[in-house]
Amino acid sequence: MANAEFGMVGLGTMGRNFLLNVAENGFAAVGYDLSVEKRELLELEGAGTPVTAAIEIASLAASLERPRRIMMLVPAGPVVDAVIGDLLPHLEPGDILIDGGNSHFPDTARREAFLKEHGIAFLGVGVSGGEEGARRGPSIMIGGDPAVYERVSPILEAVSAKVNGDPCAAHVGRGSAGHFVKMVHNGIEYAMMQLIAEAYDVLKRVSSPHVSKGSSQQTNAEIAHTFAEWNRGRLNSFLIEITATVLKKTDPETGNSLVDMILDTAGQKGTGKWTSQAAMDLGIPIPAIDSAVTMRQISAKKAFREKQSSHFLPIGNWPIDNCQLEEKAIESALHSSFAAAYAQGFSLLRAASDEMGFELDMVEIAKIWRGGCIIRAAMLEDIRAAFSEEPGLENLIASPQFRDALAAGREDLARVVVAAASAGIPAMAFATTLNYLTAFATERLPANLIQAQRDYFGAHTYQRTDREGTFHTDDWEA
Ligand code: 6PG
Repeated sequence: MANAEFGMVGLGTMGRNFLLNVAENGFAAVGYDLSVEKRELLELEGAGTPVTAAIEIASLAASLERPRRIMMLVPAGPVVDAVIGDLLPHLEPGDILIDGGNSHFPDTARREAFLKEHGIAFLGVGVSGGEEGARRGPSIMIGGDPAVYERVSPILEAVSAKVNGDPCAAHVGRGSAGHFVKMVHNGIEYAMMQLIAEAYDVLKRVSSPHVSKGSSQQTNAEIAHTFAEWNRGRLNSFLIEITATVLKKTDPETGNSLVDMILDTAGQKGTGKWTSQAAMDLGIPIPAIDSAVTMRQISAKKAFREKQSSHFLPIGNWPIDNCQLEEKAIESALHSSFAAAYAQGFSLLRAASDEMGFELDMVEIAKIWRGGCIIRAAMLEDIRAAFSEEPGLENLIASPQFRDALAAGREDLARVVVAAASAGIPAMAFATTLNYLTAFATERLPANLIQAQRDYFGAHTYQRTDREGTFHTDDWEA
């Protein structure tokens, strides 16, 4: 019988959990995966809810009411195209296909155009919140034709996280806007995670009497306590909260702190790198995100790092106690850097919206990021307020909500960067954030010299400070 209201292809943890969430919200759901075990797991976990597993893609299509609503939650890349190819013969004009994975936005634009030729509507949708979010309420960023979204909105809004009753699901823009916004979400996620890692490193390794507990640096348990404290204040966020939890975990095998037993090489699936690439293309500076990607790349070169560490002597003996680094300065540096990371992400969204015609609504994006997603944080309320008051805001660092805190926080950032440099601890994301803010606060940058050099070797011309026009100097040596 064709009475299922929502179909899912891909019953890995994300797809299965999302579909269980759909069924638990009362929608008749059907899922398909090549793997028999995953299909069985769906029926086992979904017992008592209106969910079934289809044994073939054809039976999934047959069991859905028309027009069909089918989501794919499969790994980004060629698998998405393969699933589209498998589904297509079983679809009819008017059906709606939703890609809920972390697809690269140009692929989404290409797939939307391809499916349109077959009369199939396509939505590129960002889903954030990991396994738990998919099951209990993710943040959902929908891109595509708004009229198509209308036909799936009751389901997506019902399954999404809620903040004060508001669903964390919204149509953010046309075409590939949903996947673009999710990509930037992940870029901000990379920056926040790197900044937290640097704060942890400073707390663990800087021996300032103001940061250390007693005579030694902070232990993981003490750092966990510090993060838990910070989570009760303006840094309140999912990532700070889980950091405190992670740092408390003991390795059952060795009895050591588990985080100390984990190899220091960070993985990445590509969304951070794509964010940097898109920002480069659009000419938008997002150094905190770039640094986070760079630091993951450096971390992955473990063998090379190990070799170099014996050649470069530790910086060590600088009088870092003189910099008076206090725990509250690290909290303040983290607060400023989180704000700057959001500022960079939102300025990229603004440029992409103008360039690609996404018509992104920044207030709405801040609203749906408040719950369910990985970068949810109390600060998003201020971000939402900033864009509500000034919809055309170019950069959050200029908003009344952040301007004063950033001006004050810059000094603390400098303290942390000096302390880290003095102790030989890499703090790339903190340092680039400090320089990002300082550069925007600098009326006259040394770019005049770059212009002179360009004119010298390539006659690229320059403008003058004292009059209008374009100038070239024929003989710089005369
Ligand atoms: C989310 C996460 C999710 C995933 C990242 C991890 O919003 O739920 O961002 O999408 O965990 O893709 O990305 P990396 O593997 O690149 O760290």
